[in-house]
Amino acid sequence: MTHRPTALLPFPDTATVGPAGIELDGVSLTTLAAEFGTPLYVYDAASIRTRARAVREALDSAPHGGHAAFALKSQSALGVLRLIHAEGIGADCASAGEIEAAQRAGIPGSELVIHGNAKSEQDLRAAVTTGARLVVLDGRDDADRLAAICRETNRTQDVLVRIAPGIDVDTHRHIATGHHGSKFGVTPAEGAELLRTLPAGLIGRGLHVHLGSQILDADPLIAAARWLPVFAKAEGIPLEVLDLGGGLGIRYTPDQDAPDPGQHTRRLIEAIATVCAEEGMPVPEIIVEPGRSIVGQSGVTLYTVIGTKTVGDGSTWVAVDGGMGDNMRVGLYGATYAPVLAARPLADVDGTYRIAGRHCESTDVLAEGVPLPAPQVGDIVAFPATGAYHQTMAHSYNLFGRPAAVLVDGGAAHLITRREAVADLFARDV
Ligand SMILES: Cc1ncc(COP(=O)(O)O)c(C=O)c1O
Repeated sequence: MTHRPTALLPFPDTATVGPAGIELDGVSLTTLAAEFGTPLYVYDAASIRTRARAVREALDSAPHGGHAAFALKSQSALGVLRLIHAEGIGADCASAGEIEAAQRAGIPGSELVIHGNAKSEQDLRAAVTTGARLVVLDGRDDADRLAAICRETNRTQDVLVRIAPGIDVDTHRHIATGHHGSKFGVTPAEGAELLRTLPAGLIGRGLHVHLGSQILDADPLIAAARWLPVFAKAEGIPLEVLDLGGGLGIRYTPDQDAPDPGQHTRRLIEAIATVCAEEGMPVPEIIVEPGRSIVGQSGVTLYTVIGTKTVGDGSTWVAVDGGMGDNMRVGLYGATYAPVLAARPLADVDGTYRIAGRHCESTDVLAEGVPLPAPQVGDIVAFPATGAYHQTMAHSYNLFGRPAAVLVDGGAAHLITRREAVADLFARDV
């Protein structure tokens, strides 16, 4: 393995430093900023492929097969979805819109798993009419509404029931979902009862669990995988399919370390095979729903420095041309990043800086205490690890259009999402 400077650790796999600064797969970030403008999302195809392939290969080794459904909430640019689907990975969709995105990317209904704690009539109808492989029920009301649509359309639908097993994970409380009191899923006892008493038209295939996101210590995910077959056997409910959700974390800052998604998937498979052997029960088909761990590390967001100023308390702001409109994670979870100047990532720093977004909110601050080498107006700031939950969460507050996105693949850059123009912002006004 080639040595990577510490500052590059959260950047995509192909990141190197050349004469013009950081390059992804040989393409310089400053060149991309000049060609496509900023703010700009840049994704490294090789980083995505490596992770998607590793998960797929791990599932291929599972005794009764396995299916990966990529979580579209983390990334839904069609250019990225096509790449992931080409690696043999389907989709986890949480709305009629995400179902449409999957279809437009060429992912058939037979590879879709449908989620949502408050699925609308439109969402459920889209699931049924696309022939979704599985709908994951979040409660009795969900089941009743789905069954009514099945009756009306004279179809049946395979379902799983999502349970919140009361397992806590070490992540931000805003992205923990498997604890007691979570708005997602039902208690294990209610889940078992729902599977035993499903309305006509729904065929229960098994259980679903998703404990949360950005989980760096994967042990609780393994513990949940071991517990579910034991629970299903004790309750006498079907477990042909066991969907273990997503949740694996990535490295946002150089000091973090994250499990490898392929190895993690193998650990899950082994844990289930072992517990099923212990319990004398058949091994279920395994589904995983990775999102962040496939695409997160592939992304870099580029901004241009608009101004710098030192203020009353002696701190220095570096204001950039993006902010909470393209990165909601700081405001939502207090997320931290390790940005660098794209042209001078390894230069000696001259102080620490506060990176301000351009939105009219005091909380629109992208990073605090960032060591940088004398940033100047016009410099390009590169935020690594922004491939997941950035573009999908982008919005147009202050009527700044949403950024463009570029995929770097095979040494060339391809525009996959065009920048939102001012005219686009009024397309829905009547
Ligand atoms: C049901 C479900 N599956 C999969 C995911 C993807 O999670 P992650 O991006 O952390 O892998 C999520 C995200 O919260 C989810 O809610």
